Amino acid sequence: MILGVNVDHVATVREARKENEPDPVIAAKMAIKGGADGITVHLREDRRHINDRDLDRVRRNVKKVELNLEMAATSEMVTIALKIRPDMVTLVPEKRAELTTEGGLDLVKSGRKVKKAIDTIQHRGIPVSLFINPAIKDINISKKLGAAMVEVHTGLYANAKGKKQTAELNRVKKAVRRGTDIGLQVNAGHGLTFTNVKKIASIKGIRALYIGHSIVANSIYLGMEKAVKEMKRLIER
Ligand code: PXP
Repeated sequence: MILGVNVDHVATVREARKENEPDPVIAAKMAIKGGADGITVHLREDRRHINDRDLDRVRRNVKKVELNLEMAATSEMVTIALKIRPDMVTLVPEKRAELTTEGGLDLVKSGRKVKKAIDTIQHRGIPVSLFINPAIKDINISKKLGAAMVEVHTGLYANAKGKKQTAELNRVKKAVRRGTDIGLQVNAGHGLTFTNVKKIASIKGIRALYIGHSIVANSIYLGMEKAVKEMKRLIER
């Protein structure tokens, strides 16, 4: 099982001050040093964190591990994907005001648009993954639409507690099993943390986990002491 690290929220901190730091490309390089098998960036329509320049720089700097571009299935994004050539594309639903991706794709409503994006991108040799809710129906439709991969949404599992969490975990397990049975490559992600990742990581058949927010949050905790020590050292000198 490989780990793809989403560095979007490094850019979120940068955008809070419109400065040059922290730089998601430097963060991506450090994530790779730490063992990341892949880097994910989500280019949003409103460019609220990762922007076009970041994407271009990430592509030029991330060569040895898989670069996963998360994006909406719009013609603007498809054109960008074909120009940048990430190693894979994950199609996600996108709402302007949402704080993060809120759920999987509605493949019944947006099936035609999604299929058009899959065909165009995969025809150019870039595998496409669909971010979907943990439902057998969505796994089956993803296969019919011709996607090479799916990413099963783990957010409901992550947010649930007790028996509800066990029920959500079982939905994820069933979706993963169905996906691998019908020949899809199955990934999973959203809302995973140091605390809740183990149960998802123990599901057989998952190719990759995609984790962002919790890793960025913990990197602040793990780095704060060092950063303050360095500033004190410079002041005292
Ligand atoms: N997978 C998808 C499709 C996402 O949209 C996100 C959030 O950008 C993630 C995984 C990572 O989720 P989190 O930041 O909660 O780890």
